[in-house]
Formats: sequence, C-alpha cells, structure tokens
Amino acid sequence: MHIHQAIIPAAGLGTRFLPFTKATPKELLPLLNKSAIEYIIKEGVDAGITDFYMITSGNKPTLAKYLQLAPELEAAIAGKKGEHLLSSISTLIRQARIEFINQDKPLGLGHAVLMAKQQIGDTYFGVLLPDDIIFNAKAALAQLIGIAQTYNATVIAVQEVEPDQVSSYGIVAIKKEIAPGLVELSGLVEKPAMHDAPSHLAIIGRYVLSPRIFNSLERTQAGSGGEIQLTDAIQHVLNSGERVLAYQVEGSRYDIGTPEGWLQANIELGLQVPEYTNAIKQMVKKF
Ligand code: UTP
Repeated sequence: MHIHQAIIPAAGLGTRFLPFTKATPKELLPLLNKSAIEYIIKEGVDAGITDFYMITSGNKPTLAKYLQLAPELEAAIAGKKGEHLLSSISTLIRQARIEFINQDKPLGLGHAVLMAKQQIGDTYFGVLLPDDIIFNAKAALAQLIGIAQTYNATVIAVQEVEPDQVSSYGIVAIKKEIAPGLVELSGLVEKPAMHDAPSHLAIIGRYVLSPRIFNSLERTQAGSGGEIQLTDAIQHVLNSGERVLAYQVEGSRYDIGTPEGWLQANIELGLQVPEYTNAIKQMVKKF
C-alpha cells in the first residue's frame, strides 16, 4: 500500500480562539516564528505525502499566501540577514503539491473529508488536523502509515487522557490488543460521559483511512452538534466488517485551537532553543 495523499481539514470556524480567528485562520497561529500549518505540511512531507488537499472555507487568502512561493520577497532578501528564515517554508512548498478545496458551510469534520473524495480516488490516504500539533522525532503520520501498511487497515491515532478529560474527545472501545500501543477496535464513542467511557484512549488528529470511508460519509447523518462526524463514519466502516486499528502515537501533542494549548506548544518549542531556554526560566522565576 502506497500512501502519498493527505487531507487537511481547515474550514472550521475556530470559535475557541476568537477574536484572533475573526481575521486570521488559526492555522496561521505562530509557533515561535513559523505558522502552525508549516509544522503540519512538514509532518506530512516527512511521512512521504506529496499531495495535500486543504479544505478551507474560501475566505482564508492569507493561508494560501503562506503556502505559495514568494519570488519577489526571496529576491528582495537574497544575501541579507533574514534569508535563511524564509528558506524552510520555501523548501517545503517545493516538495509538496497543495490543492485548496472549498467547503461552503462548516457541516463538520466528516463533511470536510468528503469534499476531497474525487481527488483521493480509490486508495488509502492520511488526514492531518491542523490544530493538533505533535512534536516527535518520527512524524506522527509516518507512525500511522507504517502500521496501515503492515496490517492493511484503517489506523487512527490515540493518546491516553485523564478520566475527567474523556468527555472532550472521541474515545475508542477496544476489541483486543495486537501489539504494545496498538489495539483493534470494537467501536468509537463521541464525547462520552466519564462513567460511560469504554477506555481512556482519546482520538487525536491523525488518521490513515481506507477509501471506503467516502461511501460511509455519504450515508452518515448529522450527529453530535448537528455536524457530520468522522467518528460516526469510521464506526460504519467497522460495522461493515473492516478492521479499524488505533495506535498510541509517540510525541507531545497540543491542541493549538485553544489559547492554552497554543501557549503550551510555544513554551515547549521555546525550551528546545538554548537561547530562549534561559529567558523562559528567568521569566517564570519572577512569578
Ligand atoms: P474543530 O472543532 O477542532 O475546529 O474541528 P473548529 O470547528 O475550527 O474549532 P472551534 O470548535 O470552533 O473552536 C477539527 C478540525 O476540523 C476542521 C477544523 O478546521 C479543524 O481543523 N473542520 C471542522 C472543517 O474543516 N470543517 C468543519 O465543518 C468542521
């Protein structure tokens, strides 16, 4: 199985990060000096993805601008001090084909994925949610792709959460353990109450999906919050007899769709840069 395509659903309203998201999409939030979307594309490229389908709501021209080459800017700063700061994104853009697809209305994550049905065709593909940032030496999507290829199956990324957090996530029900960190699923439950949760393994924003998900999405009715939920469609795929696996991906994950998660991600990144580490520690000591 060769996986070279990925969908990036980025058409949500970003209400948890208002008012910032009133004018600027959350995918452009800075993580130190780079936009969040750059980390996402890099993760995809590191996992062997060459074709990205960015689902947007049509009013995110700055997102497209960040992901286009800027020959005039490159020429203007050639040989100057900031040149190397632009090179990481320019190199990435040259390695990836990024197509924008419009989702007219934010009808849910499942609906956003369905928008790329024609482009993906009859093949397994990746999904990267751009508000989940995962720092790890081995790209989180690459971890999933390796497993999908070994087992020929749909694989979703999970991480263990505290019991009082389960109601904020999709939670998986385990059929059996296959290998350390890898389980086969008997079901998925969207945002269960603490005492109803079948496990503490929460679905996070990386998936490798079988093309059968598209038929399933077309038949999925709006569920929780009036939205077409991707987890409901994965449940249908499972019900139809296909194996669905969940893998506990390695890495520290931040939901940068909230100010708290965004701040934490910046602090972790800052602590990785020696020249910032001291400044952060001095700053924290003051309080
Ligand atoms: P979220 O629910 O985390 O993002 O959706 P949101 O809707 O933008 O954020 P809030 O809840 O209003 O703060 C998960 C991912 O799915 C995308 C979002 O852009 C985000 O990356 N999404 C969601 C779509 O592309 N379309 C939708 O209709 C819904």
